[in-house]
Amino acid sequence: PVGAPDKALAKKVTKVGIIGAGLMASQFALLFVRKLQVPVLITDLDQSRVDKGLAYINDEIDKLEAKGRLDGDAANRLRALIHGTTDKTEYADCDFVIEAVFEEIGVKQQVFAEIEPIIAEDAILATNTSSLSVEEIGAKLAHPERLVGFHFFNPVAVMPLIEIVKTPATKDAALSTAFVVARGLGKNAVLTADAPGFVVNRLLAKVFGEAARALYEGTPLLTVEKAFEPLGLPMKPFQLIDLVGWKVAAHVQDTMANAFPERFYANANFHALAELPQVVEKDKAGRVTGWTKDAQR
Ligand code: CAA
Repeated sequence: PVGAPDKALAKKVTKVGIIGAGLMASQFALLFVRKLQVPVLITDLDQSRVDKGLAYINDEIDKLEAKGRLDGDAANRLRALIHGTTDKTEYADCDFVIEAVFEEIGVKQQVFAEIEPIIAEDAILATNTSSLSVEEIGAKLAHPERLVGFHFFNPVAVMPLIEIVKTPATKDAALSTAFVVARGLGKNAVLTADAPGFVVNRLLAKVFGEAARALYEGTPLLTVEKAFEPLGLPMKPFQLIDLVGWKVAAHVQDTMANAFPERFYANANFHALAELPQVVEKDKAGRVTGWTKDAQR
């Protein structure tokens, strides 16, 4: 890809660390073990969150087995490669560590500050931020040259794109490793500027913002969905907000509005969507039925 450094500079990845055990983190863990076949570590604030992530991963492996995508031995190998703990010292031998924690600059800086003294000096750090500045996330690192943005899309297993982001500090070895890892995961990687929303979320925040706006102007939700049909997108806007999670979508919207107040709606008020299940007719709305479940994410 344009801007990708020589892949010979890439560091060999033998163990992956994932910070977080939420929905994105669990999807990453499964993808990494399936595609790279290396040990993968997940951690979270407490054991119950770790257990929830592990349960999700095991469930997904069961589904792949039931579909005949994996035989029993392969499924067991994958299960054995994933380890969940709250003990951060276990990141010590990870050579590629990606965070998937709450989309808040302070939280992301904090988790990196905790693990940087534990990992090897040449281990690569990646952030799955979707809208924050990667440079700012790395501002407190002792070695910001090892940090890259590595932004996945939902559902992680099937979305073919990863946005890779470098900062002025990122060294070629880190960038090259990110491209080689992305390729190993079977994804297409593009190098985007370190600007709020990169490319994809800038476009999506526009779509989500206009869909929410239409709702507040009085157009019913299902009409808004129908009105998107001519665009031929694989999912309608509220289906997609449901998939991404309305809290995440709202947060991205706020970040974009803060960064570009003249271009994005402030207070798009996605939270009001949480009150919609009673007006959503199941089956007509496809996936737009998960608001209450989502509120617990
Ligand atoms: N997890 C794992 N696999 C999934 C899945 C999920 N949640 N949903 C669907 N799949 C798989 C299916 O198992 C199926 O795989 P096989 O062909 O191997 O059996 C394949 O995807 C296609 O699924 P379906 O035939 O059931 O459904 P579909 O043709 O309607 O496709 C879709 C489903 C791929 C999700 C499609 O609707 C799509 O592309 N939607 C758009 C998604 C999108 O725009 N994502 C970006 C969100 S924004 C984001 O994530 C960024 C952010 O930072 C907020």
